[in-house]
Amino acid sequence: MTRDPPSIPQPAVPRHVAVIMDGNGRWAKQRNRPRAFGHRAGVGSARRIVRACHQHGVEVLTLFAFSQENWQRPPTEVSLLMQLFIRTLTREVANLHNNGVRIRFIGDHRDFPASLRQLMANAEATTFGNTDLTLVVAAGYGGQWDIARAASSLCAEGLPITPENIESRLILPELPHPDLLIRTGGEKRLSNFLMWQLAYTELLFVDTLWPDFGEAEFAQALHWYGGRQRRFGRVPEGV
Ligand code: IPE
Ligand code: IPE
Ligand code: MG
Repeated sequence: MTRDPPSIPQPAVPRHVAVIMDGNGRWAKQRNRPRAFGHRAGVGSARRIVRACHQHGVEVLTLFAFSQENWQRPPTEVSLLMQLFIRTLTREVANLHNNGVRIRFIGDHRDFPASLRQLMANAEATTFGNTDLTLVVAAGYGGQWDIARAASSLCAEGLPITPENIESRLILPELPHPDLLIRTGGEKRLSNFLMWQLAYTELLFVDTLWPDFGEAEFAQALHWYGGRQRRFGRVPEGV
């Protein structure tokens, strides 16, 4: 084991919620609109879920915004997504900061536009001291990349490849692993998200497309989580 398992029963509210925000393209298609329309609507959902996490007392929210594999989408869609990130950061960071949100980015950002990288660095620096909610945005992220990077850093230092050592070299080693993963859009797969960190996460797959996912759906997800019994390999108490 890499960490002491939390004692059972679990707190009703997950400390860390991770979300695969999927279904923007299909949402737009249903409305005979271009995929961009769905991505823009998806930003509204992200805003609502950040607010809901804050209200429910979730400590960390990780949003999967752009996977390494998403680079394989048509260049027009990729560049549209980059523009949308730029616009969203420009508009939202001050408000997030005023609400005590700390923003962090995980992923390989080397191929991102320089202006976007600058906005990301500024957002992290501005919100560094905030403690109400940590918002982790996974962009250019791949779970296998994260693990491989950890392993190669251990190799470079001549350290043994143990679970504890890998854990300590992952991109955000100090954050708790996700307690709850929500994937919208109906697919039941992880698409190379937090492959290591999801080892004992409760997984919730919902058909709702991301732009339709709002406070009510989020509250339902928390309710579902509250009914899980997390055992971490052990037997339930009282057995
Ligand atoms: C998720 O929505 C957003 C990103 C991957 C950036 P999709 O764009 O994957 O939407 P669908 O799955 O095609 O409906
Ligand atoms: C996963 O969605 C990535 C993000 C939500 C950023 P995809 O739509 O890219 O996943 P696949 O291709 O259906 O597995
Ligand atoms: Mg998709």
